[in-house]
Amino acid sequence: MQCACPAAADLIYLMDMEKECRVRSVEETWAAAAQFASELAPGDVVCLEGDLGAGKTTFTQGVGKALGVKRAVTSPTFCLVVEHPSERCLLVHMDLYRLRTPEDVLAIGWEDYLARGAVLFVEWSDRAGDLIPPMARHVKFAFGDAEDERILTFS
Ligand SMILES: Nc1ncnc2c1ncn2[C@@H]1O[C@H](COP(=O)(O)OP(=O)(O)OP(=O)(O)O)[C@@H](O)[C@H]1O
Ligand SMILES: [Mg+2]
Repeated sequence: MQCACPAAADLIYLMDMEKECRVRSVEETWAAAAQFASELAPGDVVCLEGDLGAGKTTFTQGVGKALGVKRAVTSPTFCLVVEHPSERCLLVHMDLYRLRTPEDVLAIGWEDYLARGAVLFVEWSDRAGDLIPPMARHVKFAFGDAEDERILTFS
């Protein structure tokens, strides 16, 4: 996967299927997200991994902008799941932080979203356990040295 974010010069390929991208602002995270969004297909599950405030929701905002969703993407921490229909697909943004077990995840409609071919962006996806399909994509967010710097790893 190529990264067209402004920090593309820093792109480091770790393996065939994994790459790292260093971004230095919210806008660069949105640019990386737009590139990522261009490769999405219905039914994709994207696990967003990283600490509180690492940038998972901000990245999903960038995906929403790129997909042309009408409503701004905000954190689903309290409502757990938010649907963002667009002309390209149904983007479903989940934040499982407050859930404990895969059964809790099923209760918010997990299987129904998969059956509908939604594109699922999932924060704190570890709560979903074995519900995460083997072909799921993973984006890891780590803090860089500078305040607004983040290191994104795609696999
Ligand atoms: N390069 C960057 N990429 C993303 N966010 C950044 C960046 N630089 C600064 N920020 C700030 O960091 C914060 C990231 O918050 P965000 O809600 O996206 O994190 P999160 O990983 O979803 O956290 P949580 O686990 O609490 O939901 C925002 O306040 C954002 O403005
Ligand atoms: Mg979040």
